Amino acid sequence: MPIAYRRVSIGLALCAALTLAGCHSPAPLTAQQREGQRLYNDRCAHCHELNDLALKKVPPNLHGVFDHTALPSGAPATDLNVERTILSGRGMMPSFAGRFDQEQMAALLAYLHAGIR
Ligand code: HEC
Repeated sequence: MPIAYRRVSIGLALCAALTLAGCHSPAPLTAQQREGQRLYNDRCAHCHELNDLALKKVPPNLHGVFDHTALPSGAPATDLNVERTILSGRGMMPSFAGRFDQEQMAALLAYLHAGIR
């Protein structure tokens, strides 16, 4: 293929890749999701992002947790199961019973659905 044509097709491929990448840029967070983000950053991220307590069982990565059919434990990835984990704790994860009111819990779940960012 002549060089000039090759340049054009590389250019086209690049454009297509950039356009596709653009499609994946996440939608802006709603007010509810932003509240969930704040709660996640305050209460969850230090373990789930940083493992700052150096837990032997490394807290699982929750990015895209609802994009999978199962939670890391194998339980179905449903709001109910995530809420149960938060309320009851699991292994080294403490219980957050009484720490979030219903609105805050809904905000946290909405943020996890939107994708941690
Ligand atoms: C002290 C550290 C710590 C904090 C704080 C913490 N977690 Fe966890 N979390 C863990 C660990 C460790 C596990 C793995 C538990 C296991 O399977 O033994 C876990 C597991 C999970 C799971 C997976 C449950 C499953 O069934 O696989 C979810 C969902 C989760 N945490 C959500 C949260 C949310 C939301 C918050 C904030 C409200 C939070 N966690 C706060 C340590 C933490």
